[in-house]
Amino acid sequence: MHLTAQQKEIVNNTKKFVEKRKTRFPKGEDMLSHNKNVEKFAVEIYQGYKNIKIFPLILAAHLHDIGLSESSDHEKHAAIGYDMTKKYLRKYNFITSDQIELVALCALNHRGDKKTKRSIEEKIISSAAAMDFIDRSLFLFTEKCKHNKYNDSVAWIQKILNKIMTRIELPEARKIIKPKYNAAKRIFELENI
Ligand SMILES: [Fe+2]
Repeated sequence: MHLTAQQKEIVNNTKKFVEKRKTRFPKGEDMLSHNKNVEKFAVEIYQGYKNIKIFPLILAAHLHDIGLSESSDHEKHAAIGYDMTKKYLRKYNFITSDQIELVALCALNHRGDKKTKRSIEEKIISSAAAMDFIDRSLFLFTEKCKHNKYNDSVAWIQKILNKIMTRIELPEARKIIKPKYNAAKRIFELENI
């Protein structure tokens, strides 16, 4: 992964920008770990697409859920994130308006809206965000159990795991996460016995 010194500085500033808003995110959402993992998965998927730029992808990994710091509503936060991302990135003259729009669209469509025609970068971010959920499903389940009844928590994780693979539309991404998805499915099906 190659970033210029200037790009690295903007990525670091962006991480700090998200970290400053840490306490505003909904309880139980460890946004910094989520973003870090989304970046990791986005970079992995990116290896299969040499004609796209890594810089907007990295920015999108850290900004895609920024709307959650203003609204815990899972439907609204993506649209809020689109506006916040644009406003935040506009302060960097170095970033082109096309790149800003692309990163903001990654925030807007990171929930995998299949009706909208989306760029490969948007698909990478929505896939990576879903992959992180699968990757950390055991941890998220444990967290859920702290504030909810055990049976409700099992039903919650099963429901999400059953639908989340449909959000991972890129074959490369599915291939990367499939072993973990299968493991998670086995674990949570066993809980039903
Ligand atoms: Fe989100």
